[in-house]
Amino acid sequence: MTDHLTIVTHPLVQHKLTLMRDKNTSTGEFRALLREISALLAYEVTRELELTTRAVETPMQEMDAPVLKGKKLALVSILRAGNGLLDGVLELIPSARVGFVGLYRDEATLKPVQYYCKLPEGLEDRLVIVVDPMLATGNSSVAAVDLLKAAGATNIRFMCLLAAPEGVARMKEAHPDVPIVTAALDKRLNDKGYILPGLGDAGDRMFGTK
Ligand code: URA
Repeated sequence: MTDHLTIVTHPLVQHKLTLMRDKNTSTGEFRALLREISALLAYEVTRELELTTRAVETPMQEMDAPVLKGKKLALVSILRAGNGLLDGVLELIPSARVGFVGLYRDEATLKPVQYYCKLPEGLEDRLVIVVDPMLATGNSSVAAVDLLKAAGATNIRFMCLLAAPEGVARMKEAHPDVPIVTAALDKRLNDKGYILPGLGDAGDRMFGTK
């Protein structure tokens, strides 16, 4: 991927995102939409995966057919909201390895604090896709990518549902080599670090918490 920011303008993605933004959408509907939209975003984020070929025998004849090259890719979810994006991606890429990074946002400083980290081995040889629905201040995304680079990852992409200009700028400054794929770039953050117009707290909306 060459562009730092890709906005997936596919009509299905945009339609589903509007339903997710609606405050009257129920937890169950929100979760189902997130699963569907994450599969569509995964299609975009994996568009340029490298292929090789292998011999297969069709019922008609032999041929060299395309297959994905290299090690299985790794998904890394930023807990807890990132987990909502996993199922949709795993439907498309069932053999992906999955890691988890736990970062909570200190509500006073808006800075991320790490409380959990479990990553697949061999990150240096894998495409690593970091998933988090909301790229807001960019603090947790930058911290998660810092951590992944320290663990050896060199080929990282970031997939989210909504991005704020502040978060995109922060990621571009800290990690210009990490392309971002999102369904929309919203207006701005409010003084609590929430995206406007956004969709509210993604974790609360997908898990039905408050
Ligand atoms: N996290 C969320 O869940 N929503 C926002 O708007 C920003 C961060």
